[in-house]
Amino acid sequence: MANILVVGAAGFIGSHMVKMLLSLGHEVVSFDNLSSGHRDAVLGGRFVLGDLADHLSLDKLFDESHFDGVMQFASSIQVGESVRDPSKYYRNNLVNTLNLLDAMVRHDVRHLVFSSSAAVFGEPCAIPINESHPLCPLTPYGQSKLMVERILADYDHAYGLKSVSLRYFNAAGADPDGLLGERHDPETHLIPLALRAALGHIDRLTIFGNDYATPDGTCIRDYVHVEDLCHAHRNALEYLFSGAASDAFNLGNGQGFSVQEVLKTVEEVTARRVPANLGSRRSGDPARLVADSDKAKTLLHWSPKHADLRTIISHAWQWEMRSLAI
Ligand code: UFG
Repeated sequence: MANILVVGAAGFIGSHMVKMLLSLGHEVVSFDNLSSGHRDAVLGGRFVLGDLADHLSLDKLFDESHFDGVMQFASSIQVGESVRDPSKYYRNNLVNTLNLLDAMVRHDVRHLVFSSSAAVFGEPCAIPINESHPLCPLTPYGQSKLMVERILADYDHAYGLKSVSLRYFNAAGADPDGLLGERHDPETHLIPLALRAALGHIDRLTIFGNDYATPDGTCIRDYVHVEDLCHAHRNALEYLFSGAASDAFNLGNGQGFSVQEVLKTVEEVTARRVPANLGSRRSGDPARLVADSDKAKTLLHWSPKHADLRTIISHAWQWEMRSLAI
């Protein structure tokens, strides 16, 4: 049993992580400023309302408990917004993470799992994307994640802070028990929006472009279940506890689905029509992002349990239906 600090615990992936860690018997302290997360999504353990920008509250947090490891999920996540307002992304994703790393070093906490992103790669030059693919982010969001990855290498060298960066492809799905799911505001992700269109919560979904170099012209993504991402985090922390070196891993299922294929699967799962119209391309969208996750499978013993797109969408659908009932 370990004592684990989860930063950004009230968000989509952080909240699922807390639930999993508690079910495994770990001690969990959740830290979140609730700027985009939800207090009621943190299902147990100690909750600390605090901000990574506040050095004093960070020192208090680390003075009060000794943590065996830290998981850093707190981040602004809208790629388009990051282009319009880079300051927000460099401050929130880069400077605030740096504050966390410095607090860890000051308090002799040496194990970190960091939420990175496929956005560190930019426009892919080969598919599937493995860890040796060039790192050329297209947006401040992707830049902020890559800068943290590079800082982590320096912090390992200088201070012995060991880290694993997990580069998620398209996080999706929801808690199979139906207790948690995506609650972004505004919601910008394809699957929850398609489900809301099926439910009539929004009038229609806009397909962002059908003139990409893909078989049906719409963008292809690699959707990965949130619970599988959490398993990867748990394995990554165990990997660090075993004395492994700092590293970065891609997390996806290795199978790409186009926007049209996702909409078709949403219609099959929900037995409803998804009203959709065609819009122009969204800037910064690569045509195709598909992960090669062999490294995570080999070194982290990661084995996704919900790789099937129908399962991912079914769990998200269960969550949207439940949200409707509340
Ligand atoms: N899409 C639409 N209409 C919508 C929403 C999305 O057509 O209303 C399309 C997008 O253009 C894209 C695909 O559906 O082709 C998936 O879009 P999402 O917004 O669900 O996810 P992204 O691929 O844009 O972003 C995800 C993560 C980011 C991460 C990025 C990596 O949410 O945090 O993958 O590139 F940076």
